[in-house]
Amino acid sequence: GPMGKELKIGVPLRVSYKEFVSQIRGTENMFKGFCIDVFTAAVNLLPYAVPVKFIPYGNGKENPSYTHMVEMITTGNFDGVVGDVAIVTNRTKIVDFTQPYAASGLVVVAPGGTPIKGIESLRERDDPIGYQVGSFAESYLRNELNISESRLVPLGTPEAYAKALKDGPSKGGVAAIVDERPYVELFLSSNCAYRIVGQEFTKSGWGFAFPRDSPLAIDLSTAILELAENGDLQRIHDKWLMKNACT
Ligand code: SER
Repeated sequence: GPMGKELKIGVPLRVSYKEFVSQIRGTENMFKGFCIDVFTAAVNLLPYAVPVKFIPYGNGKENPSYTHMVEMITTGNFDGVVGDVAIVTNRTKIVDFTQPYAASGLVVVAPGGTPIKGIESLRERDDPIGYQVGSFAESYLRNELNISESRLVPLGTPEAYAKALKDGPSKGGVAAIVDERPYVELFLSSNCAYRIVGQEFTKSGWGFAFPRDSPLAIDLSTAILELAENGDLQRIHDKWLMKNACT
């Protein structure tokens, strides 16, 4: 309520794909980006005030581990986490998420002309596979798909994605990258030599995370649905994420 004290909200200190969320230069606790606009719009629909303090999570050199960031809620360091956080089972076992405000399944990205047809044919080969530093994709590839750790190559930025794909396995690069669709769409919008192969092979979404049984997770879910229904979610998406240099 209005007399409540400031919530400590963890926010990923991203170093790449900053359109989603990034710290405002010269500040410690101010953030901008797609996820922040969605959160602010949702909070503004609540019938009560929610005073929040954003707290950066990460070392500023590489994208932080999102799973560790979510764990900071259960240790009491954060009252919530706002950002491009995938709603995945490991995390839903320990926190409550809002309804998803964005769709995000895993996809395979590879150079045009690749023999790779999708996740199954990628898995069967021995080629190196890139994944985004900090993402749940790493543990998904290892634990759910049983892909050997020795094949997995951490990549931090869209520039690193492009170089690894261009170099390919013969020059120390990767045959393909597995990442969530929103990052991949942004990557492909300015890297026209690569494409998504096969189907999106997981279905997930991004949400905001709160402690178990937090009323905020429920009330913000209603607000997110309202934003989806009235078109604001799409408008916020288009403001930050619409660009295509390949057409
Ligand atoms: N969206 C990813 C995650 O939640 C971070 O890249 O793990």
